[in-house]
Amino acid sequence: MINRKEHWEKIYSEKQPDQVSWFQTEPKKSLEMISHAGTPKDGRIIDVGGGASVLVDRLLNAGFKNVTVLDISNAALEYAKERLGNRAEQVKWIVSDVTAFDPSKQFDLWHDRAVFHFLTEETDRKKYATIVGHSLKPGGHLILASFAPDGPNMCSNLNVCQYDAERIQRELGGDFQLIREDSETHVTPWKKDQKFRYFLFLRK
Ligand SMILES: C[S@@+](CC[C@H](N)C(=O)[O-])C[C@H]1O[C@@H](n2cnc3c(N)ncnc32)[C@H](O)[C@@H]1O
Repeated sequence: MINRKEHWEKIYSEKQPDQVSWFQTEPKKSLEMISHAGTPKDGRIIDVGGGASVLVDRLLNAGFKNVTVLDISNAALEYAKERLGNRAEQVKWIVSDVTAFDPSKQFDLWHDRAVFHFLTEETDRKKYATIVGHSLKPGGHLILASFAPDGPNMCSNLNVCQYDAERIQRELGGDFQLIREDSETHVTPWKKDQKFRYFLFLRK
């Protein structure tokens, strides 16, 4: 079995960003949730497992000055950097497995669309919960988007977990307060519906 990093590097070396099931032209729900979080323009924002997503472009367009994108795949981040051109210099890029991430400074906002749900081992989910707990300032926000209970149970040939509010809250523990929940039916490039849930948490 190939390891996690090899898996994702292979995906991004074989496919263009708009040929993957999770591709979005506009990360509409993420932007709505970010707007509800009310993160200031100079707040520290991280898109975890951001891949080649255009969320970073939209955040820069909106005037956010302190944006970090982390992904396990270097190839994914290279797509995003190439697309941004000179503007890529305004962003901090980190190649890391999120379950081994140890930031030197805390963030105001942590965004994760379709990354946490790949953590099918309890030990990895616990590591993630601990890391996100340490990485966010008290009063900061966590946006997590995952497949819904009636969503797919696989993505990119990997098993995933599906979440409703109760299950995601159980994974994250009492340091996080759910303040908003939303649903989205994502349509893949080959026109297949995928049910997502979006959760906005306050780091107490
Ligand atoms: C389904 S894609 C979603 C990409 C992006 N968030 C979006 O919405 O377009 C999952 C992304 O998470 C990255 N990833 C998977 N497991 C990871 C991990 N353990 N640590 C960091 N990134 C990871 C993959 O390389 C991939 O870019």
